[in-house]
Amino acid sequence: MAKSRSEAGHDSLSTQYRDVRALTLALAAPLSDADATVQSMADASPAKWHLAHVTWFFETFILRDHVPGYRAFDPGYAYLFNSYYEAEGPRHARPMRGLLTRPSLEEVCAYRAHVDDALLRALPMLRAPARPLLALGLHHEQQHQELLLTDIQHLFAQNPLEPALFDAPSASALDLPGPLHWVEGREGLVEIGDDGRHGFAFDCEGPRHRALLHPHALGHRPITNGEWVAFMEDGGYATASLWLSDGWAWVQANDVTAPLYWRRSDQGWSRFALDGRHPVNPAEPVTHISLFEADAFATWAGARLPTEAEWESAALNIAPGSGTLLDGAMCPRPRPATGTTGLTRMFGDVWEWTGSAYRPHPGFRAAKGAVGEYNGKFMSGQFVLKGGSCATPRGHVRASYRNFFYPHQRWQFTGLRLAKDL
Ligand SMILES: [Fe+2]
Repeated sequence: MAKSRSEAGHDSLSTQYRDVRALTLALAAPLSDADATVQSMADASPAKWHLAHVTWFFETFILRDHVPGYRAFDPGYAYLFNSYYEAEGPRHARPMRGLLTRPSLEEVCAYRAHVDDALLRALPMLRAPARPLLALGLHHEQQHQELLLTDIQHLFAQNPLEPALFDAPSASALDLPGPLHWVEGREGLVEIGDDGRHGFAFDCEGPRHRALLHPHALGHRPITNGEWVAFMEDGGYATASLWLSDGWAWVQANDVTAPLYWRRSDQGWSRFALDGRHPVNPAEPVTHISLFEADAFATWAGARLPTEAEWESAALNIAPGSGTLLDGAMCPRPRPATGTTGLTRMFGDVWEWTGSAYRPHPGFRAAKGAVGEYNGKFMSGQFVLKGGSCATPRGHVRASYRNFFYPHQRWQFTGLRLAKDL
């Protein structure tokens, strides 16, 4: 007998739920309890904490609030695994997450199984507003999948043995992508932002609104490691006039001379990643750079960073699946852009810094309740990044997607694409 629309919807949501939850476990599978416990810096979280926190999100906002009779796995976990929700009460200090030797990784996995079992049993009964919260929880967990990988990379980079989490992916071609071409962008009034009609989007992506674009062009591909080396060899990190004042202070205070994870030896430049330390491939997009570095490079190149509106209007007709994204538990790695002079690699490979502040779109209203804290309260002092990276799970990113980081942060797969005025 054919299934009703609502039964098919439950099946699809339950499949999505199982797939997302399974990928998180697969990404964490190579980790020991010790690997999953330690925290390398305040910006990063232990893998064990990620595994538990995304589970707490489902337990709190779906099971506790919408499933009568649900009993919490451990009432103490709310204090440990609430990230930043003031409406949910006090919580463990973020920089202390790496001191949680208990619960063990095994206990956290048991917590996940407990919540999965309760949620999958309750799913057919869930109605609005629980179902949109479930979608939010799945996209939230996908964000943490990327963070889990980048946080482990940062942690392993602190180990002098520089262990590899994954086998090296097959080598990228060393063929350089060829010179940069400029692609003229749209001019005048354009519409950007989520219109609420094309599936899930985070609240900060909307509403749809008009933006005014002045004559401009975008680089057809991201900037490569080879181009970055030319910037370094031309004294890029030692020339104050290329840098924003805050950026120059950051370079001086932190003795920054190269992208994060790069090291120079007699054999030349190498970089550390989840496949260990390998020579820098000049053909691959440069990554692990701060906004300060991206901006200095753009100034050196006689160009600038794109605005969010320029980037998004250019990406509206490009398939988000066209770039290098995370497909299962694999080593994330940006790939060289070859074979085209039109806009390419807008999605995947590296998050592209824009020169736009992460501020609300016109007409933005944060959601009611605790989940209203998800995005809106972070709209201060951060810049927008677009397009996703090689560590972004496939299906997670779209043109309106707004990632955001502080201008000095660079442990994500962050890169750049140039823009210029015409
Ligand atoms: Fe979170």
